Amino acid sequence: MNKTWWKESVVYQIYPRSFSDSNGDGIGDINGIIEKLDYLKELGINVIWLSPVYQSPNDDNGYDISDYQKIMDEFGTMEDWERLLAEMHKRGLKLIMDLVVNHSSDEHAWFKESRKSKDNPYRDYYIWRPGKNGAEPNNWESVFSGSAWEYDEATEEYYLHVFSKKQPDLNWENPKLREEVYRMMKFWLDKGIDGFRMDVINFISKVPGLPDAENPHNQRYAWGGDYFMDGPRIHEFMNEMNQNVLSQYDVMTVGEMPGVTTEEAALYTDGERRELNMVFQFEHVDLDTGPGGKWDLKPLELKDLKATFTKWQKGLEGKGWNSLYLNNHDQPRMVSRFGNDKEYRVESAKMLATFLHMMQGTPYVYQGEEIGMTNVRFETIEEYEDIETLNMYREKVMDGGEDLAQVMNSVYVKGRDNARTPIQWDDSENAGFTEGNPWLKVNPNYKEINAKQAMEDPESIFHFYRRLIQLRKENEIIVYGNYDLLLEEHPHIYAYSRTLGGEKLLVMLNFSDERPVFEMPEEMEFSDHELMISNYEVHAEESIQTVELKPYEARVYRLK
Ligand code: NOJ
Repeated sequence: MNKTWWKESVVYQIYPRSFSDSNGDGIGDINGIIEKLDYLKELGINVIWLSPVYQSPNDDNGYDISDYQKIMDEFGTMEDWERLLAEMHKRGLKLIMDLVVNHSSDEHAWFKESRKSKDNPYRDYYIWRPGKNGAEPNNWESVFSGSAWEYDEATEEYYLHVFSKKQPDLNWENPKLREEVYRMMKFWLDKGIDGFRMDVINFISKVPGLPDAENPHNQRYAWGGDYFMDGPRIHEFMNEMNQNVLSQYDVMTVGEMPGVTTEEAALYTDGERRELNMVFQFEHVDLDTGPGGKWDLKPLELKDLKATFTKWQKGLEGKGWNSLYLNNHDQPRMVSRFGNDKEYRVESAKMLATFLHMMQGTPYVYQGEEIGMTNVRFETIEEYEDIETLNMYREKVMDGGEDLAQVMNSVYVKGRDNARTPIQWDDSENAGFTEGNPWLKVNPNYKEINAKQAMEDPESIFHFYRRLIQLRKENEIIVYGNYDLLLEEHPHIYAYSRTLGGEKLLVMLNFSDERPVFEMPEEMEFSDHELMISNYEVHAEESIQTVELKPYEARVYRLK
């Protein structure tokens, strides 16, 4: 297998609005990030993925960009951003920027031109269609509720928006648009950035003719999903972007790809095909989703988690490369979702970190994960900010008359604001995030859960992450070793091995608050064992043939 720096990296994601506010306006900013670089350096990560900091009217918190080459005023200036990059590089940290080119903002100059007239030179930068029988051009639905089409009076046509109506989809069939995107990518690469995270990049090639979705309810991800995910020209576009731009720089790329399969992902990330380094797949974060979609809650089964991770580990082995994540700015907090954020918050956060960081792939830590931040429950919908949540609430409760308590419960479990509450730096007012009024309320548990406490406590989740990241740096087997699932049928224990040449690791994880017994599988042959990391105290000499695991216990052994 080819060895590269991005396979050996650990990435930390910053959602700038919620990270650290340096000027008291209640909104995180670039100077706030600079103040925290030493904290991140101490954690041991070596790459930062920065969610969008470009000019934006913030309909979707920066994922609706009105100028790709300007910094959002609320976050600072281009000089601040350049200082951030310099301060990062000085510390040996790499920066990957968010590339959001499935859509722009409707306030982007291109769209303002595009909507003016049917023969405007920018008309074909977007996807315009006449209505069909006095209604929308097709039955696709927006990921953020309602039709995916918006009627525009000026030219009496509709434009496509897979996300909000302020996020019109760009038309990748137009070579001029593709050239503009490549030019913009070079603008940032020439400033010295180290790569891109590409927003819903497998949505950019739509099925020609934009036909009605046949079984709207059986679509991947959203109504119409089958017609715009991994579309017919997607590999051609990815390859062209690689040839024209990426191949000219030593950078890393990760494509966000809802609905992507292991087979497709193996193609996107096969180095010989020259497309992307890795993708964010969604299968493991859809396991607690019922047939009604994201807000239809379903309990998570450990057997499904095992099957999914194993499929991805084995599916890309020797072919492509996995990205490893359990949460991000769109997903609930990992400890609330997969662990126990009450009596075993610390233990289960460490167990989940071990689970992820011991796999093959590049791990991503989402801000606040390293201190075990949890989901939040605000009493009323007025306290929420996320457009996806608010649109859903309007559709289901205000228009649809659905049960308020049930809808609020799904917001508590799945809403994106769970991940977006400000980072809890200390136990002072507003958790030390801002001296002003935070744009989104702080999680009231900041008095116990905060970075200051975590730094001071040698047994904290933060210091556990530091050790995990250090282990990955010191042991090639953690990066490159092959993964094999053990004890497939066990209802509480997730165990797997990693193998590289003659070396072997054993990872034992208890995903429950019970005390299940680990029995060494027969195929595991070894004469000695050495403990590498654990989240409870363990006697080095203890036999590991039969082990009663404590709630959410995690251990990693080197077998000899
Ligand atoms: C995926 C991003 O992660 C999410 O935050 C955003 O709302 C959509 N893409 C649209 O850009």
